Amino acid sequence: MNRRTSSQSDPAIHAGIAALAGLVGTWSGGGSGRYPTMQPFDYLETVTISHVGKPFLSYHQRTQHADTRQLLHTESGFWRMGGPGHVELLIAQPTGLVEVLEGTIESGTIRLRSSLVGRTSSAKDVTLVEREFTIAEDVLSYSLRMTAVGCDLANHLEAELRRVQ
Ligand code: HEM
Repeated sequence: MNRRTSSQSDPAIHAGIAALAGLVGTWSGGGSGRYPTMQPFDYLETVTISHVGKPFLSYHQRTQHADTRQLLHTESGFWRMGGPGHVELLIAQPTGLVEVLEGTIESGTIRLRSSLVGRTSSAKDVTLVEREFTIAEDVLSYSLRMTAVGCDLANHLEAELRRVQ
């Protein structure tokens, strides 16, 4: 059965990921970072989330320091639905980390927790990641907590982005 309608130029979002449709777009804004081991910092961020009519969303993010404009973290991955209300997110990072996260979407809020953090042998010791996203009209906000480098679960990131496209 064909579960979606599509045209060559502008495919409809796949019915299986309709719950994630509000994420699609280009988002830009700023955030702040902290961790018990480091000085707090502010950053600028652009997130692009797109689809091709298949049951996944492509995700790419890049950041730079708010003051110096130095490039900071970047990451790429895929959003999926594992079943009704069940969200799956896979992310690869140039710091040698990969995250597999799963959780829920409810009333525009997505709460995810890592079921796996994979690390290359030289990557920082990150063992758990929690990410929370809230979509409210044209504002996408998120927070990230992690257990890393010998610290208990603590905030690393908070950001608020606006839809620019
Ligand atoms: C918006 C995305 C992010 C930004 C802007 C960001 C920025 C930073 C900065 C500026 C530092 C301190 C300098 C450095 O060690 O490079 C840092 C450290 C670190 N970040 Fe992030 N980061 C981001 C996402 C992440 C994610 C997704 C993870 C883990 C899954 C992560 C894990 C770490 C770790 C483990 C450290 C080192 C802590 C330490 O050794 O004291 N970061 N991050």
